[in-house]
Amino acid sequence: MAPQAAAAQRAAALRDAIRIHDRNYYVLDQPTISDAEYDALFRELQSLEREHPALVTPDSPTQRVGGAPRSEFAQVRHAVPMLSIRTETNTTAAGAELFDARIRRDLELPPDAPPVEYMAELKFDGLAISLRYEKGTLTVAATRGDGEVGEDVTRNIQTIRAIPLRLAGRHVPDLLEVRGEVYMSKKDFEALNARQEAAGFRSFINPRNTAAGAVRQLDPAITAQRPLRFFAYGIGESSGWVMPATHSGLLDALEAFGVPVNRDRRVLHGAGELVAYYDAIAARRDKLPFEIDGVVYKVNSLALQRTLGYVTREPRWAVAHKFPAQEMPTLVQAIDVQVGRTGAVTPIARLAPVFVGGANVTNATLHNEDEVRRKDVRVGDWVIVRRAGDVIPEVVRVLVERRPADAREFVMPTVCPECGSAIVRLPDEAIARCSGGLVCPAQRKQALRHFASRHALDIEGLGEKLIEQLVDAGLVGTVADLYRLRAPDLARLERMADKSAANVIEAIARSRNTTLARFIYALGIRHVGEATARDLAQHFGALAPLQAASEAELLEVRDIGPVLAESIRDFFAEGHNRQVIAALQGAGVRWDEHAPRRAGPGPLTGKTFVLTGTLPTLSRDEAKALLEEAGASVTGSVSKKTDYVVAGADAGSKLARAQELGIAILDEDGLHALLKRSHGAS
Ligand code: IVH
Repeated sequence: MAPQAAAAQRAAALRDAIRIHDRNYYVLDQPTISDAEYDALFRELQSLEREHPALVTPDSPTQRVGGAPRSEFAQVRHAVPMLSIRTETNTTAAGAELFDARIRRDLELPPDAPPVEYMAELKFDGLAISLRYEKGTLTVAATRGDGEVGEDVTRNIQTIRAIPLRLAGRHVPDLLEVRGEVYMSKKDFEALNARQEAAGFRSFINPRNTAAGAVRQLDPAITAQRPLRFFAYGIGESSGWVMPATHSGLLDALEAFGVPVNRDRRVLHGAGELVAYYDAIAARRDKLPFEIDGVVYKVNSLALQRTLGYVTREPRWAVAHKFPAQEMPTLVQAIDVQVGRTGAVTPIARLAPVFVGGANVTNATLHNEDEVRRKDVRVGDWVIVRRAGDVIPEVVRVLVERRPADAREFVMPTVCPECGSAIVRLPDEAIARCSGGLVCPAQRKQALRHFASRHALDIEGLGEKLIEQLVDAGLVGTVADLYRLRAPDLARLERMADKSAANVIEAIARSRNTTLARFIYALGIRHVGEATARDLAQHFGALAPLQAASEAELLEVRDIGPVLAESIRDFFAEGHNRQVIAALQGAGVRWDEHAPRRAGPGPLTGKTFVLTGTLPTLSRDEAKALLEEAGASVTGSVSKKTDYVVAGADAGSKLARAQELGIAILDEDGLHALLKRSHGAS
């Protein structure tokens, strides 16, 4: 074969391979090669095309570079207008029921007619785009604009690897306009912002604005640097193919053409199934890798869609059912500080009440003094508050343009609002602390709550309210005082019936018998969580040797580093703490003690594991226990020191980090195999 012909053949093969891998990655979400291997294919194609410029085709993956900046976008008239859909803002089940009822009425269905078939999809939060494929090749990409006329962003869109430059398959339509949403994943957004900040640039506000801004860049080279993705949700003009009869059929066809279509779409029947879909997606919303602001229901039959038609440019056959907003603007009425169990003083924004993330929010954490400065939050400011899932509400940013002239900056108080002790902030710490220790009622209350909590001494009925009352009434100073309480003391408190008083006293009495690990955890030593408490209990076997342990001895315990060792030493060095422990022992609190069990080395001693995602059968605790039994240590974050990452479903950034660092990755079967091998070997 002539060298030219051989090169042409190789270039074609490389292009096909790259297209297949793009599709595996973006459409099927199942890459079959590593990033490095992909890059190698890409570079080979680039150098072939450099040597033989005649071989370059417009739809070659190497052409996703954008070209020179321009001064404005050309206009594109949409052959079929890009419509928007009605929004259902009732964020309860009623939203879906209203839509179904309307469809049944518009179709004049009798009450006993079978349920209507719908397609339910996610409502992606990005920018609507129309992609025109002629004879399978992407020719024009346009924004929605006013629905009739949009902007020609073809060269920008060509830089998005998720969007095929050529449709896959032998039988592609003569003409096909794919419609969908360009978006940015949460992870890509965070990484982009980290890069921005590292380079000293301003960070972006949210994935949606960033994606929309990137598509509308006059310089396609900038778009090319933004990690954009795409999901199709419909079509515009099309010809020269056999159009499916349903919307679900349409989306399946798009997927077969190599266009990314999200997998969380479902064909459903009737209002009940729509409601169940809405609830299921709402519950998973925060775990999805990209942002959505609701779901979309569409009548599945295209014939019925035509029957239903349009009202004022909105299809009657579709609705967007919104989720509660996770971000809302509100007013900062004051900035107070809150004192935690360890004395940490946290600035809290007191907000004008606002309904966000499905709840009424009046407070948002500002984390620490530096955060208040960084975000520049002032009393009197309008801010965006975010509440997502179970996470504590936080202030995302200030609406500086709405700042009143008399907005006041936050000043960290010098004395604790609870006890009047000095607030101190060590030079290298972000957190300011109340130095009042156990004289500070805030710290006492929190210490009591921690002591009574489920994984500590587990005192049922001794909740926040009761502790509040006990401390305020002067009945309880330290945790040891709990064991002196009598039922009549409690019964005198407000809202406390005799019966419940007796129950609490009994629960306190029961808590006298506990385990060493729980007792250590219950003490509330800074940085000592449940796992560390267990390690300490196992290592020392009894309280006395732990109390007397030197820093060097503490450092012998698995996973204990200098910070923890110091915190433990400080705790036991404090006379007040020793008194409380003695008082607890005096009050009859007992735990199991045993000879120190210095776990001998196991087959995986010295190996460090990180667990991420959901394993098919083992819970995280179970997997951890298995590994620790074999001598391995299990840590929370992936670093160069990590030997293995065990990854399950929905594994996120830790898995990505492991891949980046080239760390061995195991699934659950792999973990079992490794344990079996290593136990066999030892
Ligand atoms: S269908 C004629 N489906 O939400 C129906 N739209 O007004 C056209 N969107 O800006 C829209 N996810 O870009 C549809 N699964 C989805 C969607 C979706 C997001 C956007 C769309 C438009 C708005 C709807």
